[in-house]
Amino acid sequence: MLIAVILLVQASVVVPAAEQPVAPYTQSDANAGATPFTNDRLWRAFHGEAGVSRIVEDLVARNQNDPRISDIFKNQDLVRLRRVLKEQFCYILGGGCSYTGRDMRAAHKDMGIQRADMAALVENLQAAMRVERVPFAAQNHLLAKLAPMHREVVER
Ligand code: HEM
Repeated sequence: MLIAVILLVQASVVVPAAEQPVAPYTQSDANAGATPFTNDRLWRAFHGEAGVSRIVEDLVARNQNDPRISDIFKNQDLVRLRRVLKEQFCYILGGGCSYTGRDMRAAHKDMGIQRADMAALVENLQAAMRVERVPFAAQNHLLAKLAPMHREVVER
């Protein structure tokens, strides 16, 4: 009984509630795939934690409802995706977060993501940033950090 309780407590530390476990990996900010901006100007342009949270929620919903890419998001752990995507954006935008997710190649392995899928996701992100009224120049700063990641995300 005691062992069961200890195991349960340990499991809840490793895997936040409502998330599926993933294969072990080494946590590092380097997994975020980009270096962060060194001041918090962009973080403030994105309206901080509340703004980034709204953008990620909107982005994930748009992807789920987008017939071009919705199939890729079926049967995936979107609770985890929302959490680590918020961390990734916060880290890159200079919000001072740590990124605890997987690197981009491991996260998207065997999904068969193509260039057109990446373009669709970027469109959806642009729409979510527009709704949040993030200034255009600030939007482009984030997109410039994400663009090179296509090398890890897109499969040939
Ligand atoms: C620069 C572009 C992208 C970034 C920054 C990004 C970021 C992320 C992050 C941080 C994760 C979670 C990693 C983890 O679980 O540890 C993730 C997972 C995922 N991404 Fe992306 N992504 C990008 C492009 C795409 C594209 C183009 C698609 C499909 C159209 C996509 C579909 C997914 C899906 C379905 C998951 C969930 C995987 C799972 O539950 O195991 N991503 N992405």
